[in-house]
This record gives sequence, C-alpha cells and structure tokens, in this order.
Amino acid sequence: MRRTGLVLTSVWLLGAGLTLANVAWAQAPSPASIATGGRLYDKWWKEVAGMKAPAGDHPVWALQTTNKRKGETTWRCKECHGWDYRGKDGIYGSGSHKTGFPGVLAAQANSVDQLMKGFANPKHGFASVLNDATLTHLANFLKHGLVDLTPAIDRKTKKPVKADEARGKQLSVICAACHGADGKTRNFGKPDDPEYVGTVARENPWEFVHKVRFGQPGSDPPMPAGVEIGWSLQDVLDVLAYSQTLPEK
Ligand code: HEC
Ligand code: HEC
Repeated sequence: MRRTGLVLTSVWLLGAGLTLANVAWAQAPSPASIATGGRLYDKWWKEVAGMKAPAGDHPVWALQTTNKRKGETTWRCKECHGWDYRGKDGIYGSGSHKTGFPGVLAAQANSVDQLMKGFANPKHGFASVLNDATLTHLANFLKHGLVDLTPAIDRKTKKPVKADEARGKQLSVICAACHGADGKTRNFGKPDDPEYVGTVARENPWEFVHKVRFGQPGSDPPMPAGVEIGWSLQDVLDVLAYSQTLPEK
C-alpha cells in the first residue's frame, strides 16, 4: 500500500518534471536548434538530409540586377541578407554581392510565431521547400542567434574592435584538431588558389564569425558550433583575432 503510494508519487513527479522541461524548452530553444538554423541560413539544402540544391533562380532574384550570380547561390539566405545580417545596410550594400535587399536584424523583434508566418509569404518561397520543423530552426536562429556585428568588427580594418589574441590562441586548440595548428590542413579554395582559416578570417570576418558560432553546413566531419559549446561572442572574436595571424597562402 505504502509502496504503491510512493511509486504513484514518483510517476506524478516525473510527469510534472517533463512538463516543466517542455515549457522551459518552448521558451528558450536549444542551442542545437539555433545552430541548425544558422547553418540553414548559410546553405539550407546542405543541412536537410536527402535535399538537392534548388534549380533556377530564387523568385525575387529578378527584382535586382546588381548581383550577377545565378542558380542555387541565389537561394542562400546569406546571399540576399548578408553574413552581417544587414543586407543593403551592411557589407553587401556595395560590391558584387549587392542586391539592395534588406537585412534581417530588424526581424529579431518578431516572435517565432510571427517569423513562421513570414515564411508562409509565397513570394519569399521557403514554406514550399522547407517543412515546419526546419523553418522553426530558422526562426529560432533569427530570434535568438542573430547579433549585430557592427560594434564588434571594424569595417575598414576587418579586425575585431576588442579581442584577446592570446586567449583566442588557447581556444583555437579545438580548431587545430581538424584544421591544423596553422589552419592549413583543409583547403576551402582551389589547389592553385587556396583558402584557409587564416584567409577567411582576414577577408571575411563576418562569415568567419557566423561559421564559428553555428558550424559549417553539411560538413564531414561536422564542425562544432560555438553556441553549442558555450562560446560567447567575445570568445569567437578572440579566436578571430588569433586566426587573422595564421597564414593566408
Ligand atoms: C533572393 C533573395 C532572398 C533570399 C534568398 C532570402 N530572402 Fe529573405 N527577404 C528578401 C526580400 C526582398 C525581403 C523583403 C520583403 C519585403 O520587405 O517585402 C526579405 C525579407 C525577409 C525577412 C523579413 C525582414 C523584416 O525585417 O521584416 C526575413 C526574416 C527573411 N527575409 C528571412 C530569410 C531567410 C531565413 C532566408 C533563407 C531561408 C531568406 N530570407 C532568403 C529576399 C531574400
Ligand atoms: C571536427 C572538425 C572541425 C573542427 C573542430 C573545426 N572545423 Fe572548421 N571546418 C571543418 C570542415 C569539415 C569544414 C568544411 C570545409 C572542408 O571540408 O574542408 C570546415 C570549414 C571551416 C571554415 C569555412 C570554410 C569556407 O570558407 O566555407 C572556417 C572558416 C572554419 N572551418 C574555421 C574553423 C575554426 C576557427 C574552428 C575552431 C573554432 C573550426 N573550424 C573547427 C571541420 C572542423
């Protein structure tokens, strides 16, 4: 009798605990979901099992003439909204990536539900290719993963405004496991025109910060996401400062 009571109480407590955990999860999405959303923003079809790159240009691509790229690239969120999330008001406000399309930082003020409704807009065209679970990761990233990098990275020098290079070197041991101590184990470019960790860090610190915070879409082995291993933006900026000292060629 006594024992049954105890068992029932335990079962009830377990149930209550799970319910509380679900509520907490609904309020703050898991870092894994935010990181997945960040990689989807980078190149969504690489992050969904079995998905192929979209054919043709994105439906709104024809509204602009300044960015001459064609095909699958035109479907990457970053191609229209930027690595700095500021679209025409940021780095892609000029140069070959210019489209004149807006950024997404302002959208962060919306709730995840509102962001999900935004994806349903047929002109933007994502609800037709991505399911709700995938779109939720994107919404969680927009709501909880975006940061304004304007005060963090000097646009002219491309250097972090404030960073501790020595600390960045310590944190970078995790990167060295795959990229080598000099960042040259993996070449992201071509054999005759190589691109290494040091190259990306110097040339595109905004892309570097995005990839170190959220990981590399579909990479094998999977590159860890800073937001999942508890790294702050400052940690990532410290790693950026150190990586800018690594060889470019
Ligand atoms: C081909 C270019 C293009 C691509 C690719 C693209 N967008 Fe957009 N996006 C736009 C344009 C243009 C608007 C502005 C629509 C408007 O204001 O009427 C917009 C608006 C938005 C907004 C609303 C911004 C605001 O402040 O209200 C969000 C959020 C957004 N996009 C997220 C995404 C995400 C996430 C992806 C990738 C899955 C993506 N976009 C891919 C062109 C693009
Ligand atoms: C478990 C292995 C692994 C670890 C650890 C890792 N990466 Fe990566 N990283 C990859 C893979 C795989 C790619 C995809 C490119 C490739 O296949 O060579 C990649 C891609 C990149 C790219 C982008 C290449 C591009 O231009 O598309 C950068 C920059 C980068 N890593 C930097 C880092 C930094 C900085 C760290 C440490 C914070 C790190 N990586 C940790 C495996 C890893």
